[in-house]
Amino acid sequence: MKIEFPKDFLWGVATSSCQIEGSANIDGKVDSVWDTYADAGKCLKGDTPRVACDHYHRYKEDVALMKELGVKVYRFSICWPRVISDIKGTVNEKGLEFYSNLVDELIAAGIEPWITLFHWDLPQYLQDAFGGFLSRDIVGYFQYYTEVMVKALGDRVKHWMPINEPDNATTFSYGFPWMPPGPVVGEKKTANSIHHINLCHGIAVKTIKELCPDAKVGCAFDCAAYYPREDCDDNWALIEQEWKYENGYFLDPMFFGKYPDCSFRNWHDGYPDIEHGDMELLNHPIDFLGINQYYGYVLKIDGRGHNGYNFYVREHNDLPNSCMGITPDMFYYLLKYLHRHYPIKELYVTENGNAWTTDTEEEQLKDDYRIDFIKMHLSSVRKAMDEGYFVNGYFHWSFIDNFEWGSGYKWKFGLVHLGEDLKREPKKSFWWYKDLIKNNSFEKDREYSNNENPQLIFWNKK
Ligand code: BGC
Repeated sequence: MKIEFPKDFLWGVATSSCQIEGSANIDGKVDSVWDTYADAGKCLKGDTPRVACDHYHRYKEDVALMKELGVKVYRFSICWPRVISDIKGTVNEKGLEFYSNLVDELIAAGIEPWITLFHWDLPQYLQDAFGGFLSRDIVGYFQYYTEVMVKALGDRVKHWMPINEPDNATTFSYGFPWMPPGPVVGEKKTANSIHHINLCHGIAVKTIKELCPDAKVGCAFDCAAYYPREDCDDNWALIEQEWKYENGYFLDPMFFGKYPDCSFRNWHDGYPDIEHGDMELLNHPIDFLGINQYYGYVLKIDGRGHNGYNFYVREHNDLPNSCMGITPDMFYYLLKYLHRHYPIKELYVTENGNAWTTDTEEEQLKDDYRIDFIKMHLSSVRKAMDEGYFVNGYFHWSFIDNFEWGSGYKWKFGLVHLGEDLKREPKKSFWWYKDLIKNNSFEKDREYSNNENPQLIFWNKK
């Protein structure tokens, strides 16, 4: 069966600065919280992002590969501590020059640059000074950084995303000990960090629009995607309640200028400190919704759990074990849900991809499972589109194997293989994705079965 996409569908790939650039101390770059965390030996095998893919020096080779791949768009992020050197706001011209050259190289290759301003590499000096997103002071610093970047690149860059996955950057850093900078601070302060990161998003949207009125601004949000095992109205009512609870912290302020009534419901003293004018700022209109989706949860209605129905399972299927689980159906349900509840102008999948736990070096290059993975997810996207829920583009995560945060270099998400010597080698999926882009379609040659014994993840989250 042929799965086709509209002619103007945007095909792309995505990366982030900390995960690929390397050159951690070169040309005036100062440390990010991830440099500090990795240097302390907290990532798997003691891996660090100090060299990563050495993209800082090899960006021309990488852009040439992207051109070969045929992508129309490339989403990458700016390393804040590469361009602003200290708390006084000293601009590092060398850092700006790197991004300016990268943008020029992309445009010359016919690839449109899409920029994320913050993909987790917070300057260490802001963490040291006031605890990063724990303090409202972060908002002024983020505004200044946004201004610097838009003045430097706004003449050529017309798509901006202020924050990558605000949820992970706050709840995973301050609510749980899973990511730097930490520390775990309890509900009230975590709630404030969420509000502060939302304010950073809002101030950046306003700033970009003022400085560059023809630019489009959106987000790259990791939605919690629940979906029903059996599609019936009762299940949907419960599921929608859960979606609102999990995603409303970020989506509702952006779209409606308020936190949903259910937000912070289980946080006891966890409601954030909101000041006059905050909600208007959060509600600055965005031009596109970007969603970073890796997996969803099948929600089984069984009368247990904090809402009387929580029993989350992750659905598997007949691909090899991946590091995250595989739930392609989530796209169909997620897209339906988002379109029904939010006034979306354009919608992009700003990240989707996976890594596998068992692959040998040979399998890494002959990655049929990645091709299957993309096919099944795009089929689910297409199914939603067939029912009228539009999607405007898809960015595969990731262009190249890279520094996968706390997992170091163990998990390999790339369409391009990264050798020990940093040599780039396109995988089989690279050539398949190239054909997909060229034809705007692919052949779906089989159905994928769901595992009858889905894995229990957790129940009763409280
Ligand atoms: C992040 C990426 C990360 C990917 C795979 C996303 O949540 O934005 O930086 O590499 O997940 O774990």
